[in-house]
Amino acid sequence: MMDFINLLLHQSKQYRYKLGISAAVIYVALVRYFRYRQINKLKRKYPDPTIALYDRAVAEEVFNNTNGKEFPFLARTSLELALFKTYAVPSISKILHATGAFSKQTLKRAEDTGLILAEALDSYEHVQRLKKQNPNVSQEEINEQLERPNIALTRLNEIHGKYPISNGDFLYTLSLFICEPIKWINRYGWRKLEPIESNAIFRVWYDIGVKMNIQDIPKTLEDMFAFNETYARENVRYAPSNWKVGKPTVDLLLQRFPKFIESIAYTVIPAALEPMDIKGFGLDMPKPWVLRMVHFSFSLHRQFVYYFMLPRMTALIRTPIKPDPKTKRYKPLYDLYGEPAYPNGYCIYELGPDKFKPLKCPVPH
Ligand SMILES: *[C@@H]1O[C@H](CO)[C@@H](O)[C@H](O)[C@H]1NC(C)=O
Ligand SMILES: *[C@@H]1O[C@H](CO)[C@@H](O)[C@H](O)[C@H]1NC(C)=O
Ligand SMILES: *[C@@H]1O[C@H](CO)[C@@H](O)[C@H](O)[C@H]1NC(C)=O
Repeated sequence: MMDFINLLLHQSKQYRYKLGISAAVIYVALVRYFRYRQINKLKRKYPDPTIALYDRAVAEEVFNNTNGKEFPFLARTSLELALFKTYAVPSISKILHATGAFSKQTLKRAEDTGLILAEALDSYEHVQRLKKQNPNVSQEEINEQLERPNIALTRLNEIHGKYPISNGDFLYTLSLFICEPIKWINRYGWRKLEPIESNAIFRVWYDIGVKMNIQDIPKTLEDMFAFNETYARENVRYAPSNWKVGKPTVDLLLQRFPKFIESIAYTVIPAALEPMDIKGFGLDMPKPWVLRMVHFSFSLHRQFVYYFMLPRMTALIRTPIKPDPKTKRYKPLYDLYGEPAYPNGYCIYELGPDKFKPLKCPVPH
């Protein structure tokens, strides 16, 4: 035995070098194989990409895969950016600023928004996990999960109902939630989106828009992009309230990064925005070297993911399947901002500003 180990240790340098190269080549090939496996499977299963437009179940299946497994980082970052861009519309930022939640309760407000949206989107994955744990899970338990997006959207509508928000502003927000992720993934993802994936993103958000009672939602993805274009041109304008709600949001996002990032963040942020948004916030145009640096960082991320990172096998979600049995509250599976906004967990009915909390929550705590 010792002889054998000695032999291995004293292999010629050249031999070890070859071994290392072979392992690396095999690893990269495996990454490539697994990276494309999921999407190829979906494409074989659904040769016609338009099926995601008219079949809700297919749209959810594809959306779950694209958002949760294939591009979790870009999907979340682009949604955060989408939300941020809505603040460059004065009619939106004025209402938000007037609520006061941006200057005082930034963390809670961000968490309320994030958790309501996560509740609206995660139910498909909850059901998949329940089925995996127990193949004959009861319909009752499944329905319980499917009800969560409805509760979340009812809550969202209740809170929005307290403010005079125009249909156009709702629609612009919806268009950004659809168009930004598609734009960012196509630009910086390790591959471009397949048509079935853009269609799935469109359909899932379209349905949310319908449940939010938004009127005149464009019927196709092209029209949605066109709407974004027109509305942005007509409504993104400078107003002091824009940056007043923008800045606290940036500061909150920065908590996720090391301190030294803070000093360069304000130089870098405009590079992720369109010129009209930059003017809307009253920021300086990014210097060309900053634009190049940001582009380079995202490209580096793309190459790294493409060659070296194995894909996720289970989708990344934030909301748990079951509430804590004692408190009947849901505990987020991970925190985004260092400290939790709801250390004891949350109840969907109570998300949102404290002053709009239901007097009596339908769920006993
Ligand atoms: C997510 O969608 C994929 C299809 O792309 C499906 O196979 C999977 O079961 C779903 N959920 C999980 C747990 O990944
Ligand atoms: C699931 O089905 C198996 C047999 O098909 C049965 O033994 C088991 O009790 C069922 N479990 C539940 C939770 O219904
Ligand atoms: C929305 O429209 C604006 C204005 O033309 C444009 O700058 C922006 O890139 C568009 N967003 C997307 C995601 O296409």
